[in-house]
Amino acid sequence: MTLADRLVIAIDGPSGSGKSSTSREVARRLGIGYLDTGAMYRAVAVAFLDSGVAVDDTAGIIEATRSADIQVSLDPDQRWVRVNGRDVTEEIREPRTSENVSAVSTIPECRADLVERQRALMDSAPDGVVAEGRDITTVVYPDADLRILLTASPEARLRRRRGDLDPEVTEDELRDQVLRRDEDDSKLVEFQTAAEGVTLLDTSDMGFEQVVQTIIDMARDAGRADA
Ligand code: DC
Repeated sequence: MTLADRLVIAIDGPSGSGKSSTSREVARRLGIGYLDTGAMYRAVAVAFLDSGVAVDDTAGIIEATRSADIQVSLDPDQRWVRVNGRDVTEEIREPRTSENVSAVSTIPECRADLVERQRALMDSAPDGVVAEGRDITTVVYPDADLRILLTASPEARLRRRRGDLDPEVTEDELRDQVLRRDEDDSKLVEFQTAAEGVTLLDTSDMGFEQVVQTIIDMARDAGRADA
């Protein structure tokens, strides 16, 4: 397969917009790679917490980011993340990580470091990749063949995230994880409105299959005729 046959799809959106499950399924159906960039921010959060760095120690978090050895699966059928040789696939989803990950994503030096790694990972996928996050369409890969911003109303996002989480999580914790975190993150990256050339897809009233199929159709138009 030549470079021209590769397909790169960038998908951004807030928590609960459905971008992870959608991106993974689109990658699977197109037979290309899948990169969850949020998992990399989360892996760094685990690394700095484990090494005893305080949440307000900016220099310590930057150092923990730069020195972190992050390995992440690009296979949509295999979900794993390792940091500094340790499998943290489960731990990155735990409340301790979710509560502290903004400490990484709000530091510009940490973002710059991770953005470079994300670009390199995307370029390493032989057939192309669907990468999802908050700044893929704008910063990480503005030259992607297809750029989509997935949105959904706050109500739809809270409802979907609730479905992903432990039933013990309270309403306040849920709102903190979804709405407060997006508020924090949007201070550095704009992911609530689509940049020029980015297609806005509001999924509030769409089912999963409909969202996946819409993106596959857009991918076909963007150049992968066999999609
Ligand atoms: O998508 P997620 O919830 O796994 O993201 C984890 C955190 O990382 C969240 O605070 C948003 C942030 N993030 C980011 O700032 N930029 C990305 N490309 C991906 C995630």
